[in-house]
Amino acid sequence: MTRNWLVGVAGGVAVLGAVVVVVSRPLEGSPVAASETAAVDSQVLRGRYLVISHDCGGCHAGDANPEAPGWLAGRTDTIQDFRIGPFITRPRNLTPDNTTGLGRFSERQIFNALRYGLRPGETPDVEITGTTPGVGNFPEIPKYLAIPMPWPAWRHMPDEDLWAIAAYLKRGVKPVVNKVQDSDGPPDFWASEYTVEKIGKYPAAPYPTANER
Ligand code: HEC
Repeated sequence: MTRNWLVGVAGGVAVLGAVVVVVSRPLEGSPVAASETAAVDSQVLRGRYLVISHDCGGCHAGDANPEAPGWLAGRTDTIQDFRIGPFITRPRNLTPDNTTGLGRFSERQIFNALRYGLRPGETPDVEITGTTPGVGNFPEIPKYLAIPMPWPAWRHMPDEDLWAIAAYLKRGVKPVVNKVQDSDGPPDFWASEYTVEKIGKYPAAPYPTANER
């Protein structure tokens, strides 16, 4: 165990070395390329900060510690399962592995999962133009992510923050192979739990509501 961990650290140092070389080349030759590299890095770093501070790892593994083994690799033990009424739901692998993780999906599909709760595996890779099922190209019969994935709260984050999370998950995390068993759920893919009456409006009702002053 300890030995593997040491190998991992040595590998990380080697990768860091490679990145420094790549970044330093455009710095010498072309200032435009250098600033593009910096822009990509700052989006990934912003996404990292948001992922750590929004407790994604509390369910998807690793808590708030990007050094933890299995960081964001999803459920590996029944202790990470949720029982929602008669159903068991399971936090999925958020690392960019191409067969078992988010490598299969685009950054837009991850954005649509966080903004609209639409399952990346069962929703087309398109810009969603409505906020209500059947309006614009919001699927008429939406297939939502299982409870308790807290997208009804995070959909209120600004676009650029959700894009930054998608960028970090796709480009800032190493792929880990971990096939998470599908969540159980009702035949309507939770649509009856995600009505405006139950989760509120998007964007939120104007301030102040009856509860506010
Ligand atoms: C309270 C637990 C919980 C937290 C916190 C949480 N998730 Fe999830 N998430 C889940 C569960 C459970 C699923 C599986 C849903 C399903 O099977 O339909 C899921 C699924 C997902 C998916 C869909 C993956 C796929 O392959 O379909 C994405 C993307 C995702 N979560 C991103 C995030 C991000 C980003 C954060 C932090 C900002 C986060 N989650 C925090 C519980 C959580």
